[in-house]
Amino acid sequence: MNNSKQPIGIFDSGVGGLTVWKELVKVLPNESVIYYADNKHCPYGPKSKDEIIKLASNVVDFLIEKKCKIVIVACNTATAAAIDFLRANYDIPFIGMEPAVKPAALNTKTKSIAVLATEGTFNGKLYIETSRKFACDVELNIQVGDKLVDIVEKGLVNEQSTKKHLEKMVESLIKKNIDHLVLGCTHYPFLTGVLKEVLPENVEIINPAPAVIKQTQRILKANNLVNNLFAKPAYEFFVSGDSAVLKNILKEITSLSYKVINL
Ligand code: DGL
Repeated sequence: MNNSKQPIGIFDSGVGGLTVWKELVKVLPNESVIYYADNKHCPYGPKSKDEIIKLASNVVDFLIEKKCKIVIVACNTATAAAIDFLRANYDIPFIGMEPAVKPAALNTKTKSIAVLATEGTFNGKLYIETSRKFACDVELNIQVGDKLVDIVEKGLVNEQSTKKHLEKMVESLIKKNIDHLVLGCTHYPFLTGVLKEVLPENVEIINPAPAVIKQTQRILKANNLVNNLFAKPAYEFFVSGDSAVLKNILKEITSLSYKVINL
């Protein structure tokens, strides 16, 4: 049976994966998409690997029940903890998030770059391997994005306190003369505007979403799963906790029609 007409599943611990969803619907406009925001269990960052595997498996069971042909794990923390388990235990392809250390290491002029991510992502073997592979002749600074997921989940991005918090957070990175800041958490691109205000102009901020969607395109093609039918796609958002912030963000980032369903 050809599954190409079935939807793409995508999930995150909350609204962060919307930064990936936005790129997905732009690049693959024929595809229907089911998004799962597991904000009832947000943040994933401080949770143990076993807990995250359990949460991710529950979400994937739901998406498979909805007949998703492929799942994008639009959460760096869930990718770090659970992608090996998911690939080993389910039949569909999975796309994971990876901090974009490679382009930063290749393009840095100051030979100093930084990654901003959750502690769960920094603890994962994926991050350790990627940084070893691509950042051997540059200084790689790591910074845990303390409270940032919470700030985005609560809709506090434009508060003055958020700017102050970020100012403090990047202080030591500026001293290290970084010229690239890799966003290693899908929530963080929502903070790009404020980050630009607190960082020197020469610092390039890297959002991993475009690279992940390119990889999704490649995997869909390789598995014969591209939907070539020119029918109107459907976009659904299932939310395990409160949906107010997700609805606000959707209003800001898209003019497409969609349905939000509280679980
Ligand atoms: N968006 C998730 C990530 O990319 C946030 C993790 C969390 O819930 O702490 O890592």
